[in-house]
Amino acid sequence: MNKPVNNADALRHKADRSPQRRVHLIQAAPTAGSIGTEAKELITSAEDIYVTDDSGRKLIDGPAGMWCINVGHRNQILADVMRDQAMSLTYSTPWYTSNEPAEKLAEMLAERAPGDLNHAFFTTGGSSAVETAIRLVQFYNNVRERPQKKLLVSRQGSYHGSTYLSASLNGRPRDHDWMDGAGDLVRKLSCPNPFHRPQGLSVEAFDDFLIDEFRALIRKEGADRIAAFIAEPIQASGGVLMSPPNYLKRMRAVCAENDIFFIADEVVTAFGRLGHIFASDDVFGIQPDMITFAKGVTSGYFPLGGVMVSDRLIDDLRRSNHPKAAFVHGLTYSSHPIGCAVAIRNIELLEDGLLEHVREIAPYFQAQLRTLEDIPLVGEVRGAGLMAGIECVADARAENPLDLDLTVGKRIDFHCQENGLLVRPLINMCVMSPPLTISRSQIDSMTEALRKGIEATARDLIREGLWRPA
Ligand SMILES: Cc1ncc(COP(=O)(O)O)c(C=O)c1O
Repeated sequence: MNKPVNNADALRHKADRSPQRRVHLIQAAPTAGSIGTEAKELITSAEDIYVTDDSGRKLIDGPAGMWCINVGHRNQILADVMRDQAMSLTYSTPWYTSNEPAEKLAEMLAERAPGDLNHAFFTTGGSSAVETAIRLVQFYNNVRERPQKKLLVSRQGSYHGSTYLSASLNGRPRDHDWMDGAGDLVRKLSCPNPFHRPQGLSVEAFDDFLIDEFRALIRKEGADRIAAFIAEPIQASGGVLMSPPNYLKRMRAVCAENDIFFIADEVVTAFGRLGHIFASDDVFGIQPDMITFAKGVTSGYFPLGGVMVSDRLIDDLRRSNHPKAAFVHGLTYSSHPIGCAVAIRNIELLEDGLLEHVREIAPYFQAQLRTLEDIPLVGEVRGAGLMAGIECVADARAENPLDLDLTVGKRIDFHCQENGLLVRPLINMCVMSPPLTISRSQIDSMTEALRKGIEATARDLIREGLWRPA
């Protein structure tokens, strides 16, 4: 490497030395022993469904960034909108002013959201959207003079964010091993994943069990103490976990019977992932009291999220005995004009054929991925729309099944990358949610890379004595 001759060269020189480069950046979800030293893949550019890493390898972006690059990478139209908005109004404070993109986006979302969800509050992402929904529920119950109605119900297997309150709702394995949370406010129900239902129970009986469990919790705690139930229609980061067919409708009914808000966390399922702008009603037949969203609303081009809120909640607040009570909640970047302008154009792109494309191609995507179930290491492939989870199962006779569970997703990702595919490893699972622009032949390439990656992983496990096919 050439010796640096000036400051700029010195900085470049320093940046070029990869171990140094990594010293200053703390990446997401590190372990204590590797904090600040992880050597994650360095992505340098991207185009449509592909990303390119620093060695020049072109990989299919299997997770679409983080379930977000819905219209694909490097979309000229969204890039132009961002620049144009930045050059007309870059920012306006949401505390004292409003702006046109935010007002227009709120109107567009109200037109598309189910039921009476006619009001939008914009945030900076999914965690802040969930946080906002919960704080609004708490405020509502204070204003309605029932301050004891504060408990929040979530489920094992769920992911709702990384801020303190949103993270307190999470229920995936190890979410709370080393992390604190507002546990006193939260009650967790069983994970509604039929693949891991108690042995001997049919899916219908499992559904009954889940509903009964919720009813029993309400009896135990009292409906007057439970404020809200929050659920992802499909538990995404838990491994694309699909609940039994009638579960969401039945849970929604139990909430309505007991005056408990139903919050649908659609951070992943909205904006095209399931072929619709919002999936709650169009796909699952439910009308929630609130919907949280983020990610696909801007296709990941700008950090934006939000909450759709019902007329009922807004009307109750307006008519309350405390008209001067202040909802002291706002973010510097709430209603950001650039984010809102991008979201408006993004929705237009989705509605200009992309939603239809998803609805048309999703059965092919699901069917192709399900062909992988013939690999002995694969326990189940499940999903809907353009999201799928591939769950690997450890053989009961494995010498160290726990370790196998922990690393198998990462091993598959490693081998898939050798075959041109980036996957999202998740303990013993891989999650696939490609950009919505993906074509049939690209789905074929993805499936082939997955097959090669899983088979190579199985060979490694057998060679290392960790696993044997049943
Ligand atoms: C369902 C769900 N809710 C909330 C979040 C948190 O969103 P963010 O990472 O934008 O804060 C996520 C992130 O993956 C999510 O999947």
